[in-house]
Amino acid sequence: METTKQPAMTVDPSKPETIPKFVDELPIPETAKPKHRKEDKVYYEITMNETRHQFHKFFPPSTVWGYNGMFPGPTIETETNKPVYVKWMNKLPEKHLFPVDRTLHGTMGNPEVRTVVHLHGAHVASDSDGYPEAWFSRDFARTGPAFKRKIYEYPNRQRGATLWYHDHAIGITRLNVYAGLSGFYLIRDPIEKRLKLPSGKFDVPLMIQDKSFNPDGSLFYPQNSDPPAPVNPSVQPFFIGNTISVNGKLWPRLKVEPRRYRLRILNASNTNSYTLKLGDGREFYQIATDGGLLEKPVKLETVSLEPAERTEILVDFSTFQGKKLILQNTNSEGDMGVIMRFDVTLPLSEKDTSEIPVKMDSGQQLTEDAADKTRLLTLSAITDQYERPVLLLDNRMWDDLVTEKPVRGSTEVWKFINLTAFPHPIHIHLVQFKVLHRRPFDLERFQENGSIIYTGPEIAPDESERGWKDTVRADPGMVTSIIMEFKEYTGDYVWHCHILEHEDYDMMRPMRVVGKKHER
Ligand code: C2O
Ligand code: CU
Ligand code: CU
Repeated sequence: METTKQPAMTVDPSKPETIPKFVDELPIPETAKPKHRKEDKVYYEITMNETRHQFHKFFPPSTVWGYNGMFPGPTIETETNKPVYVKWMNKLPEKHLFPVDRTLHGTMGNPEVRTVVHLHGAHVASDSDGYPEAWFSRDFARTGPAFKRKIYEYPNRQRGATLWYHDHAIGITRLNVYAGLSGFYLIRDPIEKRLKLPSGKFDVPLMIQDKSFNPDGSLFYPQNSDPPAPVNPSVQPFFIGNTISVNGKLWPRLKVEPRRYRLRILNASNTNSYTLKLGDGREFYQIATDGGLLEKPVKLETVSLEPAERTEILVDFSTFQGKKLILQNTNSEGDMGVIMRFDVTLPLSEKDTSEIPVKMDSGQQLTEDAADKTRLLTLSAITDQYERPVLLLDNRMWDDLVTEKPVRGSTEVWKFINLTAFPHPIHIHLVQFKVLHRRPFDLERFQENGSIIYTGPEIAPDESERGWKDTVRADPGMVTSIIMEFKEYTGDYVWHCHILEHEDYDMMRPMRVVGKKHER
């Protein structure tokens, strides 16, 4: 047994430079166990509760909110076309772990602690989607205006993919997710089964989140912005912690065998984005995006992830026997530039029969001329009565009337015109889309008279984005175009920026999928 000595310096959880790295083993979240199975139906009961969690070997336990007492929550594993039912239950305290800003949408007159679970990336009926106003308080004592059912139904009629579930309650999503309410949901499919991808313990999910701590080891989330807003507590325009957790441990290490691994990487951070690099720039193969496998593997040295984006990569550790490879984040320097370490120190337990596929399958293509409708949607900012920024989609607030009403059976192109100074990861519920292109435009002209004057050619999506996506980086000064089909469901969904501080104020809009005219 390798032991880690107590560090010479005293560890202060609020001072990242005092926290030794790579002393905790990477935990793999447990697989959720169904309560019962009847015929083809698998039924789970998952409870949200307050629990204690140790983020680091030298930290005292911290109070977090978890699913079934775990952070990250248990991983739900299923297969394409195998329906899953989950009764999500709230046993959380009545008081929030973090300061609640009572000026935000949905926070006034409602219980302080509310939850509703969204399965991110899933193709589901509206009443199982976790609509932000379908919240419920402890023991369903109070429910939001859109609440319809206690048991959610996930038909999983979609491609194999790395999905994740997380809280989505109106006005406090940033706080609930930061408290620990997130977990993996993996769908496997027959296509992927035929490929010889690394599986079992060689198929590893990695949930990356930045966190900050108080000196006593409790989680820190700011009460106000800097400089402070006159209303207190107040939402801040963004939040980035000063440590990195992977599957709930700070800068962990994973001992690996000298063979191929499949890594499913999720950025579950509130605001922070990452550009991942392995060692001094070792090559890996990306095999999947948010919505499943790519057409063929892509050889890369770095891959970027905005909040909520997933990537799956194949890494071959066979030539690094005895070596230690650091997974880095080149977007930051210092402590935030380090994610975790892979120690290639385990003996090979069996011959590696996995393969890097030559060809995979990404289903049908979508081309821009197939669109029945094109929507131009701005990303912009105004200020509120307290001089705080309010971020908007299509220049509207969450409470404004529904304007995005795609028709079931139609194909739409959405063009995000980013008028702000930073990228926003835009997420649409219900669908998986394709990124068409990004194109620079003249911001001043747009602000003068609303006309789009392009200042350069269309830029193809990054190599790592050429698959099914549910979240896309809308760059500043660019028009980012995506295309999607609205297939089987009608009803109320949402689309929003996945920077959770933006989503809560007020970068989220309703979307209503409507039936064809003759059905209405
Ligand atoms: Cu991952 Cu609407 O959320
Ligand atoms: Cu979602
Ligand atoms: Cu945003």
